[in-house]
This record gives sequence, C-alpha cells and structure tokens, in this order.
Amino acid sequence: MTSIKHLAVIMDGNGRWAESKGLPRTVGHERGAEVVRDVTRAVRQRGITHLTLFAFSSLNWGRPSSEVQALMDLLCHFLESQEIEMIAEGIRLKGIGERAMLPANVLQLLERVERNTMHNEAMILNLAISYDGRRDLVRATKQLVSLACQGQLLPADVREELIMTELSTGALPDVDLLIRTSGERRLSGFLPVEACYAELVFIEKMWPEFTTDDLDEAIDEFDHRQRRFGLTGHQLEVSMSPT
Ligand code: FPP
Repeated sequence: MTSIKHLAVIMDGNGRWAESKGLPRTVGHERGAEVVRDVTRAVRQRGITHLTLFAFSSLNWGRPSSEVQALMDLLCHFLESQEIEMIAEGIRLKGIGERAMLPANVLQLLERVERNTMHNEAMILNLAISYDGRRDLVRATKQLVSLACQGQLLPADVREELIMTELSTGALPDVDLLIRTSGERRLSGFLPVEACYAELVFIEKMWPEFTTDDLDEAIDEFDHRQRRFGLTGHQLEVSMSPT
C-alpha cells in the first residue's frame, strides 16, 4: 500500500487529444470525464484518502462560451451520475474554488452532493471548479484581516496551521503527489501552497488516454523517491534504522 495520503491531478490535454483526432474539443472533455470516473475509483481502491482534481480553473472562464457551457454541463452530469456511487463507496465530495462564479444549477448540484456525502469517510474527492490558488490565498487573507480588524486575531495567532485551514482546501493533508498529463510542466495556479512539498510527476499522455496503469506507475515512482524535507539522505537513513 502506498504512503500517499493526498493525490492532486491536473487533467490536461482533453482539447489537444480531440483535435488530434479531428473531433470537437468537447468530445475530449467528455472522454476526460469518463477517465475521471475510472481514476477516482482506482484511487480509492489503492487506499489514498484525498484526491483533488483540477476540473476548471478561474482562467478557463475566458474560453469560448460554448466550451465553458459544455464543461459546466459535464460537471453537472458527473455530479448527478456519480452521486449514488459516491454514497455507496464512502466518498465525500467537496468543491473548492470561487462558488459565487458558478451557474446556479452547478452550485445547487454541488451543494446537494456535498450534503449527501458529508458523513462519508473512505475518501475525500475535492473538485477544483473556478479555482486559482493565488485568488484563494487572497480570499483567505482578507478573511484573516477582517478578523484582525474586529480584534479577534493578533499577529502572534498567525501560524502556518491557521493559514492552511483558511484556504479552501481547509484542514486537508499536504499534497504528496501531483500528476500533470499532456507533457506540460507547470502548476498553472493549482494548489501552490498545499503542494509546496509535493513530488511532481509529469506524464506525456493526454488526459483522455490516461489509464489506471499510468496511475500505478506514478504511484510507484513516488514510492521510490526519497523525500528529504530539507534533511540529508544520511540523516533520514539514521532516523529510519532500527534502534
Ligand atoms: C484541460 O484540458 C482540462 C480542462 C480545462 C478541464 C478538465 C475537465 C475534465 C477532465 C472533464 C470534466 C471534469 C469532471 C470532474 C467531470 P484542455 O482543454 O486545456 O486541453 P488542451 O490543453 O489540450 O487544450
């Protein structure tokens, strides 16, 4: 069993995959949503307790309105069609991102599935929708400043844990492994604080081609990396050797 507690995925390349086959970009997103279903199930089966997926970035609102609409429809379809399975599988759904930006039907459905899965404990599935990490940090900072203005927060109270819990990912464990498909090698505003100690794995395949074997390879790569958190390799070996 892997030691990963929190896996984050940038599901990139839907559009390019479709275009390379002469298909509309939205077909790439549809195929991508099917992969989301398979990967979510596989992640849970591998004992990983937190999965965060970048489903729609704050910057994606700038795409052609027909593509934005197709993505919102897909999200609704995903939430509606997966609700029963999530309940049965013990998966708790949470949305992160700018809720005020979401169309009413998406928000209503998101909140319904969040409510109906809130007592589930096998895995938390975070869907980042209209999400941008820097904007989330600004929102969290405003919230803390407003508490300080009301006299409810002093400089000495500002600790790492406080800032982390104020982010929309809340009290989740740090991201251990972050996977990005499509060969791009950047974070694009995804979990900049939460993933600051994450191992990064970049996969050449486009997201619609991603399989559970690719997931297992990425997990295996993670399990073979030495995470030193600022220490030397020797220090780690000493601390892990039996006393
Ligand atoms: C990036 O591919 C992907 C997105 C902007 C959306 C991701 C959405 C899905 C995988 C499907 C819907 C999600 C859920 C949770 C049901 P891109 O369009 O930027 O690809 P490109 O870089 O090739 O243009």
